[in-house]
Amino acid sequence: MAALALIGKIGEHDGKEVELRGWLYNKRSSGRIHFLELRDGTGFIQCVVVKGEVPDEDFEAAGKLTQESSLRLTGIVRADARAKGGYEITVKSVMPFQVAQDYPITPKEHGIDFLMDNRHLWIRHKRQHALLSIRHEVIAAAQQYLNDNGFLRVDAPILTPAACEGTTTLFETEYFEEKAYLSQSGQLYNEADAMAFGKVYCFGPTFRAEKSKTRRHLIEFWMLEPEMAWCDQEENQRVQEELVSYIVAKVLEKRRAELAVIERDVTKLEDIKPPFPRLSYDDAIDILKGAGRDISWGDDFGAPDETLISERFTRPVFVTNYPTSMKAFYMQPEPGRPEVVKCADMLAPEGYGEIIGGSERIWDPALMEERMRQHNLSEEAYGWYMQLRKFGTVPHSGFGIGIERTVAWITGSEHIREMIPFPRLLYRLRP
Ligand code: 4AD
Ligand code: MG
Repeated sequence: MAALALIGKIGEHDGKEVELRGWLYNKRSSGRIHFLELRDGTGFIQCVVVKGEVPDEDFEAAGKLTQESSLRLTGIVRADARAKGGYEITVKSVMPFQVAQDYPITPKEHGIDFLMDNRHLWIRHKRQHALLSIRHEVIAAAQQYLNDNGFLRVDAPILTPAACEGTTTLFETEYFEEKAYLSQSGQLYNEADAMAFGKVYCFGPTFRAEKSKTRRHLIEFWMLEPEMAWCDQEENQRVQEELVSYIVAKVLEKRRAELAVIERDVTKLEDIKPPFPRLSYDDAIDILKGAGRDISWGDDFGAPDETLISERFTRPVFVTNYPTSMKAFYMQPEPGRPEVVKCADMLAPEGYGEIIGGSERIWDPALMEERMRQHNLSEEAYGWYMQLRKFGTVPHSGFGIGIERTVAWITGSEHIREMIPFPRLLYRLRP
């Protein structure tokens, strides 16, 4: 009896007969031999069907298999240094389950709109398989790091009555007789959770109704947000550089094969270790002016500005102390310099730009009240948040790491749209 095996763990069955279940990724035939490239979700492997070594009807059935046909087969696992993945299968029997007709995505080149329309099928592609496997590893590693370092996962709601990151990018929906908004960030709830549990994180989808059609913007993206009581911005940045270094190390350790599939230059990742360089917003503005950008103090960085800065570094760089006027209402001003706040964005190298936004939060009730007035935040919506400053307030800090932007950088991908199974983009809600 052939043991059921997974391609991803085929090495455990070297020399033995196994049964594989999967889909036909590709086929080459030369009269007496069919080379079936089988995928099963855990990997890809070449299965060699030789006339005379399988029943005649199996050989014929193999010849009729089309791209993405589903099948089972049995065969002997053979180590082969020339094979990708190091093994191939000498087939003993072939059992088609369904012969697929007219699979739309052929090995030829397709345009991006066509591929996006067929995203439900495109995710079967080898490159997409590698990218989304690395996405899994990034999430797993991030959670592992936080779990190992005393953080408790306490999630935040998606349906919320008020904004976290400003009202311009809110998705509005009906909540029975009330209005509700899709969460832009779990931070405000995270702050309550930090006062209850100390070190917490939330993880989930977040939504930005941004009319941005860039290679870095998703309308729906996944964000992991740690929040720490009794923590200042220095400590906050230390956690961030450690977390990001840990994620990169785990991807290098566990997803070498996938990094090879997408031809990522891993030497660029091997250097990602703490400490990361720090650059003040003031100095960043000088660099940009020096590079001929039309920008002045107080302006936000556009994507080209972030690219320009992050290209200058081989590790992620913290840009610190942004102008108060530019940033969210909850950020703690820098002592003696109220025009800037204790915050940092982490920009990934190689031109990738912002992957993390974080800050120290205002703890002082009087200052928080002043900010709420300045930003017209109602007592009704934010009263509970204000209470966090009244009942045992403490200095605290946190950040949000965008999963898809992080995956885009680690995989060296050009566009964020392939970093999530079903991207929501400006003008794209389907499939
Ligand atoms: O800088 P942002 O807006 O920060 C926050 O939301 C804070 N409340 C987080 C916190 O302190 N708990 O977003 C954080 C990160 C960005 O650095 C980026 O990686 C990602 O979320 N991000 C996006 N990713 C994809 N598409 C978009 N439209 C994104 N907007 C933000
Ligand atoms: Mg930001």
